[in-house]
Amino acid sequence: MPRCKVNLSTMIFLVILQGAAVVLFCGWYMEFSHCGHAPSNRKVHVLLLSSWRSGSSFLGQAFSQHPSVFYLMEPAWHVWTKLHKPGARALRMAVRDLIRSVFQCDLSVMEAYLPEQHNVSALFMWFESRALCSPPACPLTPRNQLSNQTRCKKACDTRGLQLAQDACSTYSHVVLKEVRFFELESLYPLLQDPHLDIRIIHLVRDPRAVLRSREAAVKALARDNAIVLEQKNTPAVELQYQVMQEICRSHVRINERAILKPPPFLEGRYKMVRYEDVARNPLEEMNDIYEFVGLEMTPELEEWIYHVTHGRGKGSRREAFKITSRNAADVSQAWRSTLPHEKVKRIQEVCKGAMSLLGYRTVDSEKEQKSLEIDLLVPREPYQFSWLPAKTEHPETS
Ligand SMILES: *[C@@H]1O[C@H](CO)[C@@H](O)[C@H](O)[C@H]1NC(C)=O
Ligand SMILES: *[C@@H]1O[C@H](CO)[C@@H](O)[C@H](O)[C@H]1NC(C)=O
Repeated sequence: MPRCKVNLSTMIFLVILQGAAVVLFCGWYMEFSHCGHAPSNRKVHVLLLSSWRSGSSFLGQAFSQHPSVFYLMEPAWHVWTKLHKPGARALRMAVRDLIRSVFQCDLSVMEAYLPEQHNVSALFMWFESRALCSPPACPLTPRNQLSNQTRCKKACDTRGLQLAQDACSTYSHVVLKEVRFFELESLYPLLQDPHLDIRIIHLVRDPRAVLRSREAAVKALARDNAIVLEQKNTPAVELQYQVMQEICRSHVRINERAILKPPPFLEGRYKMVRYEDVARNPLEEMNDIYEFVGLEMTPELEEWIYHVTHGRGKGSRREAFKITSRNAADVSQAWRSTLPHEKVKRIQEVCKGAMSLLGYRTVDSEKEQKSLEIDLLVPREPYQFSWLPAKTEHPETS
């Protein structure tokens, strides 16, 4: 009998051991089979989520010029301009599905929005994408060199999107810049899709600076404004503020969703970036951003980022990138001397919740506004943790 007992516990031990071994080997097997199956599918998919006039062209270029990146600027522009739908809400799933296909290098999804016989140049701002100016899309620019948009525009147009699609599949990173998302929830299926490895970079900017920049581009923004405001009839003087209110609300919505109570599939996939931090410490911030998505800084990019943000670009470079090479830190403060205080007060009211959440101090007087020695940027570390209000409701979300 005692011998039988020993055998029983030995048996149990062996069964447990075998179970453990099965689990372990399955784990290995799955890992290897995953690697073996689809090396080309193991891409990182970066969504550069921003709003109009928030410095996303610069950040987009910092990705586009990277030798490992296939970049497209605002593919959702096609959805918003082609489909006649009343508002952003009605369009968001079409935008989401377009993004998903483009991330997977399926550009056939674009056909719905392009003329029947189209060239790659039918893609909105196609020449902003260095990958479309490099092999295999175009022989012009070696993949590890910076692209010249003027030359690309002349030399790299081709029929159809096949070459662009072929190019996409040869890169480790697909980066899409979008200004047309106002929430994260519609992206949940993408975040849970095992074929996608999404990183979201949420670029925000001081609403006062955004307002000033928008005022210089009223006409260009008219169509988007109507969609943002769901085609409501809005008096011209109120329009900018109402659009800004929607944008500020969306920043709060997105940031709180990602930071306060993120669903498990969002954890570690969201990074908020303030334009002003990038303007002050471009190299440090860009290094962080690249690291977050698994890209390495290159000496060429380091030099380019420095020149573009420090106003020492050679004339030809300026022209090449169409990003005016100015002192970025000064530009980010320009609203303080040029925006009338009345407007500053108004935008601060409209965007109050977003400004406190994102770390932008309000000014109480014109004197304070114009005193550039007063720093209006709350340092990053403390605000992310202690500035969060306990409630999720903000004045402008109500
Ligand atoms: C399309 O690209 C081809 C070169 O592949 C060019 O000859 C043609 O003029 C382009 N068509 C348009 C409409 O731009
Ligand atoms: C970009 O191309 C234009 C037109 O060919 C040229 O004038 C300019 O010098 C080029 N810039 C650089 C940096 O090569």
